[in-house]
Amino acid sequence: MQGGSDELNKDSTISGTKQAKSDKDYSIYFQPPSLKEAKKRGKEDVQVRYESAIPDDMKTIGKGRKYLIRTFGCQMNEHDTEVMMGMLEEMGYEPTEDKLEADVILLNTCAIRENAEDKVFGELGHLKSLKQEKPSLLLGVCGCMSQEESVVNRIMQKHAFVDIIFGTHNIHRLPVLIKEAYYGKEMVVEVWSKEGDIIENLPKKREGMKAWVNIMYGCDKFCTYCIVPYTRGKERSRRPQDVLAEIRDLARKGFKEITLLGQNVNAYGKDFDDIDYSFADLMDDVRKIDVPRIRFTTSHPRDFDDHLIEVLAKRGNLVEHIHLPVQSGSTEVLKRMSRKYSRELYLELVGKIKRAIPDVMLTTDIIVGFPGETDEQFEETMSLVREVRYDSAFTFIYSPRDGTPAADMEDNVPEQVKKERLTRLNELLNQISREKNEQLRGQTVEVLVEGESKTNPDVLSGRTRTNKLVHFRGPKELAGRFVHVTITEPQTWVLKGELVAEDAARVV
Ligand code: SAH
Ligand code: SF4
Ligand code: F3S
Repeated sequence: MQGGSDELNKDSTISGTKQAKSDKDYSIYFQPPSLKEAKKRGKEDVQVRYESAIPDDMKTIGKGRKYLIRTFGCQMNEHDTEVMMGMLEEMGYEPTEDKLEADVILLNTCAIRENAEDKVFGELGHLKSLKQEKPSLLLGVCGCMSQEESVVNRIMQKHAFVDIIFGTHNIHRLPVLIKEAYYGKEMVVEVWSKEGDIIENLPKKREGMKAWVNIMYGCDKFCTYCIVPYTRGKERSRRPQDVLAEIRDLARKGFKEITLLGQNVNAYGKDFDDIDYSFADLMDDVRKIDVPRIRFTTSHPRDFDDHLIEVLAKRGNLVEHIHLPVQSGSTEVLKRMSRKYSRELYLELVGKIKRAIPDVMLTTDIIVGFPGETDEQFEETMSLVREVRYDSAFTFIYSPRDGTPAADMEDNVPEQVKKERLTRLNELLNQISREKNEQLRGQTVEVLVEGESKTNPDVLSGRTRTNKLVHFRGPKELAGRFVHVTITEPQTWVLKGELVAEDAARVV
């Protein structure tokens, strides 16, 4: 068995069988993934472990060396990068943005769609020559793609210069794997197909004024198109006291905004067998902590219960923004996607949320061109978008993922039709965005200032409680502070405005 007990893995990595690759003169430590194994949902208990991940003899190994991590995936993936950065810096490594001066480069990958994977293989192509010029460079591939056996096989065959492959369940083992790669001088492959324990006290490198906090790992929803339940394992919730302690600590450190992370945050707590404590309970407790803004992502419509709506309606630091992925407006398509709600149920939920929080901003994810999606079914998505009037949305063309049920469904929608549907959907969404932003003309909104805008250093950029982007002129000393901005020129993607006089006067 892989994963379940870390002791097993620890032993097997240090003294594990090294299988010789027949046509190469080096051997590799080989613990590859299996999607079939990853699909299983066992009853075995997940332990919570509170221990240090950095072995004593690894605490200085990075001294004088630099690292670079490229992140390809979602917020969860980015947060994993923060954990790996934390570990590497505890080992003495320093960060760099320059590939040429890096001694360790890690690609933290995403498997959600084919184009995400293509980007990683493209990057590996570029890195090959770098590795040839600097053989001491340690190259690692981790994240969701590493959980797929086809990817691991392809890397071993076509990108054999990679030094380490590890997955999403064992990032805490990075120090040990680096050691193995340095001293063993052979490709280290350690991917657990089954999730391991929850490791609580890993270091995390957080920058800026916003922080992510994982509240749970994994997903048990198994939407038929989605690879995540295979790459991230079964649903496991962190204990409430650990989540709350982390948030209190971030509050003490002065973070202004915290986003609670999970693939399906509404499932939080469903795996506890000793306490009755749900996501709504957690939000109600987080509400009492002194952090100005709390967000969460992503919530699944199926488990969005009345208690949660009631708690969110208390507002305070719980912001008026809900990301509620719908995927399709057709009950028939939703059924084939195994989303476990109908169009009607979704609209009913949206109605309840809007009644409880009238100024709520709703955003969503939509897939077009799911296998068998007819013109009429796509039109149902368009009409749902018109009815809900989302503030914005992430839209995707369906991408078949190996090993998922939808990959075996007949994909009879021509590529051109998929593209046209995506274009029409995006045009509609943009039009609604523009109209909704127009309603903010003349209104004064609270903005958390992030800093200079990326495109114009004379302009400051920040976000409203509802996560809308605001640009306005003001002194850069305002970065990290809350100010009020009157919206003068709303556009589709950005609200342009003017800093109110009192806030401008506060800065000397
Ligand atoms: N857990 C989140 C989604 C995470 S993935 C949720 O259920 O809401 C983010 C988005 O990627 C999904 O909402 C979906 O719209 C999209 N997606 C996932 N798998 C996909 C696939 N195979 N092809 C196209 N888009 C996909
Ligand atoms: Fe994927 Fe569905 Fe889980 Fe979201 S809820 S991660 S779309 S399986
Ligand atoms: Fe991608 Fe994995 Fe996130 S597949 S979207 S990085 S959970």
